Amino acid sequence: MFNFFNKKETKNKDVKIEVQEDYNDIKPISKYFHNETGITFDKQISILKIKVTSFCKRRKIYSFLQLLDNIKDNYLLKQELIDYLTTNETFFYREVKQIIELTQLVKKSNTKINILCAPSATGEEPYSIAIALLEAGVSAVDFSIMGIDINSQAIYKAKEGIYKERNIRNLSVEIVSKYFTIENNLYVLKQNIKSLVSFKVVNIFDSSFLELGKFDFIFSRNMLIYFDKETKIKAKIILESRRKNDTHKVFFGHADLF
Ligand SMILES: C[S@@+](CC[C@H](N)C(=O)[O-])C[C@H]1O[C@@H](n2cnc3c(N)ncnc32)[C@H](O)[C@@H]1O
Repeated sequence: MFNFFNKKETKNKDVKIEVQEDYNDIKPISKYFHNETGITFDKQISILKIKVTSFCKRRKIYSFLQLLDNIKDNYLLKQELIDYLTTNETFFYREVKQIIELTQLVKKSNTKINILCAPSATGEEPYSIAIALLEAGVSAVDFSIMGIDINSQAIYKAKEGIYKERNIRNLSVEIVSKYFTIENNLYVLKQNIKSLVSFKVVNIFDSSFLELGKFDFIFSRNMLIYFDKETKIKAKIILESRRKNDTHKVFFGHADLF
């Protein structure tokens, strides 16, 4: 069953157990991760191997097959792996032209608008939308925003709303002083902005995503870049099906282009 053996002894009181490490064939993990999340590591397979080996060793999991087996019955372990392997890089006012375009569309509307950011990562994008809408003169009672992400740590940080200087680098001094307090060199979002955005851990390929309902406007930027072509098309169809109005486009990132 194993291609090579690296024997390890673990001591459990008086009992000595000999375990055999096998961190050789990463393909089953790559396939599993792709099936679960849509993310492909095909072009970074050796990076995936290094990362997952380290993930396993830290948890005393001695082979990739053992990891797959453990994940089946352990939802928390699966979530830890997802949190560990997803890339959550984001910042305030990223690709801001699309955010300005959204504010203009929202201003034209005469009903309450709901907006989805899928994915939101650590919250900078949905909070940017909230700030831009207020700055454009839209009243807080006229919109709501939801951020979802598959990464539970990212959603935890999004709910906290505490950021480093590099995350707010695109914001003007005026915007920063209006919407943040500065504590120990960290930028803490004020409660009035935090209260405009709700967050949830959701995978866009799960049925729970469909249960969120439909939205007036959807942002889905810089996630499809991690998917292969087939998965991008599948994700695009799912995201577009969540629009209340079929004539509204989903805002994708420039790097997401098909
Ligand atoms: C680089 S961030 C993009 C954040 C933000 N939209 C932006 O453009 O700055 C990509 C995010 O996609 C999330 N992601 C990847 N696959 C996902 C999936 N199947 N469902 C939900 N989120 C996913 C990752 O966890 C990560 O936080």
